[in-house]
Amino acid sequence: CGIIGYVGSENAVPIIVEGLKKLEYRGYDSAGIAIYGTDGFNVVKQKGRLAALESRLDGCPIAGTMGIGHTRWATHGEPSDINSHPHVGSQSKIAVVHNGIIENYKQLKLRLERKGIPFASQTDSEVIAQLAEYYYNGDLLDTVIRVSGALEGSYALGIMCLDEPDTLIAVKKDNPLIIGVSDHGHFIASDVPAVLKHTNKVYYLNDKEIAVLQKGCVQFFNLDKEPLQKQLETITWSFDSAEKGGYPHFMLKEIMEQPKVLKDTIQSAINNGDNKKVIDNLDITRFNKIVITACGSAYNAGVVAKYVFERLCRILVEVELASEFRYKDAIIDEKTLVILISQSGETADTIAAMREAKVKGAVTLSIVNVVGSTIAKEADFCIYTAAGPEIAVATTKAFSAQLVLLYILAVGFAVKLGKISGEQEQELLSQIAALPAKLSALLTQVDMIQKYASTCVGYKSIFFIGRNIDYAIALEGSLKLKEISYIHSEAYAGGELKHGTISLIEENTLVVAISNCKQLFGKIMSNVEQVISRGAKVLLIGNCLDVEQNDKLSSISLPESNELFSPSLSVIVLQLFSYYVAANKGLDIDKPRNLAKSVTVE
Ligand code: G6P
Repeated sequence: CGIIGYVGSENAVPIIVEGLKKLEYRGYDSAGIAIYGTDGFNVVKQKGRLAALESRLDGCPIAGTMGIGHTRWATHGEPSDINSHPHVGSQSKIAVVHNGIIENYKQLKLRLERKGIPFASQTDSEVIAQLAEYYYNGDLLDTVIRVSGALEGSYALGIMCLDEPDTLIAVKKDNPLIIGVSDHGHFIASDVPAVLKHTNKVYYLNDKEIAVLQKGCVQFFNLDKEPLQKQLETITWSFDSAEKGGYPHFMLKEIMEQPKVLKDTIQSAINNGDNKKVIDNLDITRFNKIVITACGSAYNAGVVAKYVFERLCRILVEVELASEFRYKDAIIDEKTLVILISQSGETADTIAAMREAKVKGAVTLSIVNVVGSTIAKEADFCIYTAAGPEIAVATTKAFSAQLVLLYILAVGFAVKLGKISGEQEQELLSQIAALPAKLSALLTQVDMIQKYASTCVGYKSIFFIGRNIDYAIALEGSLKLKEISYIHSEAYAGGELKHGTISLIEENTLVVAISNCKQLFGKIMSNVEQVISRGAKVLLIGNCLDVEQNDKLSSISLPESNELFSPSLSVIVLQLFSYYVAANKGLDIDKPRNLAKSVTVE
C-alpha cells in the first residue's frame, strides 16, 4: 500500500491524487482520500484503480488544505469501498491511512467492540482510527504515542484529528515513510517520487519516530515525547515522469530499454566511484559462504547468480526466498556474506531477511534500483542498478540490470579469491560489456517472437525447462508468463521431468526449452524428444541449436555468448513471449490482477 498526506497553503486534493499516481505501484485494489473540510472530513473511497477514484472526485469536488490519501493492496478484508482507506473512527473525529499489518487487531477490535464501538470494515487498519478516538484526550500527539504503544505489527501511519485543524501526524514501524518539506507545505509519503514534483528536501523517518507536520513547521519526537533533531536530506535524482513514449504498454517500453540499461549498469559498476568502491572494499576472502535472499523475480536473479558465483568463485552459495529465510533460524554468522536483491528496496520480506542477517552478524550487501530506499540505506554495502524508474508491475529491465551487476560482482570476487587470472577477468568483463549490443540484435527479432506468441494464446498450461543456468532463467520465464498472461505455468529442471512432471504433458501442452549449455545440449534434446512423443509442442530457445524445425518443434536462436551470461539473452525472448501472449489476450499488462510492484506487507 502507499500513503500520502499534505498540510499547507494549497488545495490538498490534486496534490494527493498526483502523489497517489506515483504510489500506485504499491497496490491498486482501491484508493481513497480524506480532506479536512469546513464541515468535517470529506472522505471519498473507491474500489478499483486510482482512475476510478478520480472520476468519483470529478463528480463531487472537495477541497481543503490538509488531507491524506491511500492506494491499497488488500490484505485483511476484500477489495471494496468500505475496506478502502482512509478509515475514520465512529465519532468521525479521527482519520487514518495505514500501510502495514496490525497483528493484534483482533484483540484490540474485540476490546473496543465490548465498549460499544461499532466497526464498519473488515480491515485491521480501522482499529487504529477507533483506538485513536477512544484514547483521544485533546492532544493528538499524546494519542498517537499511546496508540503506537498498543499496536503490534508493522505500520506507517498518517493521522488527522477534527479538533486539530492544522496538524498532520505521522509515525512508522517497519514500513517506510518520508517527510517532504516545501515552501507551500509539508508532506508525508511512502516513497520519494510521490513528493518530488513539489520538493527534493526530505527527512527519512526511522522506526518509532513521530513527525508532527503543520503548515509552517515540522517537529520530530520519540515515543517518550522527547524532541528529536533530524537531518534534512536533498534528493539529487529526478523522477522523470515516465511516459510510454509511443509504446502500448510500459512493459514493452521497458523491455526495449534494456540495451541502454545494461550499458549504464555495466558502466557504473565498472567505472563509477561509489559502486566500484563497494566491490573493491568488500573483502570476499573473509567469507566461507554467500547467501542470496530476495523475492519474486529478484529471487530468480539470485538463482542465476548462484550458478555464476559457484562456477567462477568456487564459493558455496545458497539462495533463499526472503519470506522463508526470515523464519528459518538461518545458519549464518560473521563469515557469511548475505546479498539482498530488490528492485524497490522496500519489499517487506527482504527487509526482514536483511535485519535478521544483521542481527546474526553477517555482512549484508544489497543490490537495489531505488535510490535511498530502506534496503539500500540499511545494508552494510549497497550497489545500485541503473535501470531508472520501472513502472510495469512485471519487472524486465530491473531484473536484467540485477543480472549484469551480479556477473560483475562474481568476476570481481573470483579475482580476489585467486580463482581467475587478470587476463581471464578482462576476457569475462569484455564478454559482459558485449551484452548490450547482443540484446539490441535480439530485439530486432520482435516480429518473429510476436508471431509465434500469437499462436500460443489458447494453451492451458506452459512448461519451461532447462538444465543448469538455463533452468535458473526458466524460473523467470515461467513467472513472467503467469504474472501477466494468467496461463498456468511451471519451470522444471530438464532432468527432473521424468520424476513426476512428465505426467502433466499431454496433447496441447507447450514446453519452452532453453539451451545455452553446450555440453548439455544432448540432454535437453532428449527431454524435448520425450515431451514431443507425449503430444507436446516445443519452443526451443538457445545459442547452440542444431535442429530442424517442424510442426512440433520451433526454435529461436540467440546470439553466441558465454553460457554463464546467456540468461541475459534468453530472458529477452522469454519477456517478449510473455508480453505478446498477454497482449494477444487483451490483458491489463502493466497492472496484472492481484499483484503489486512492491509488496510492503508480509
Ligand atoms: C513483487 C513484484 C515482483 C517482484 C517482487 C520483489 O511481488 O510483483 O515482480 O519481483 O515483488 O520485488 P523487489 O522490489 O524486492 O525486487
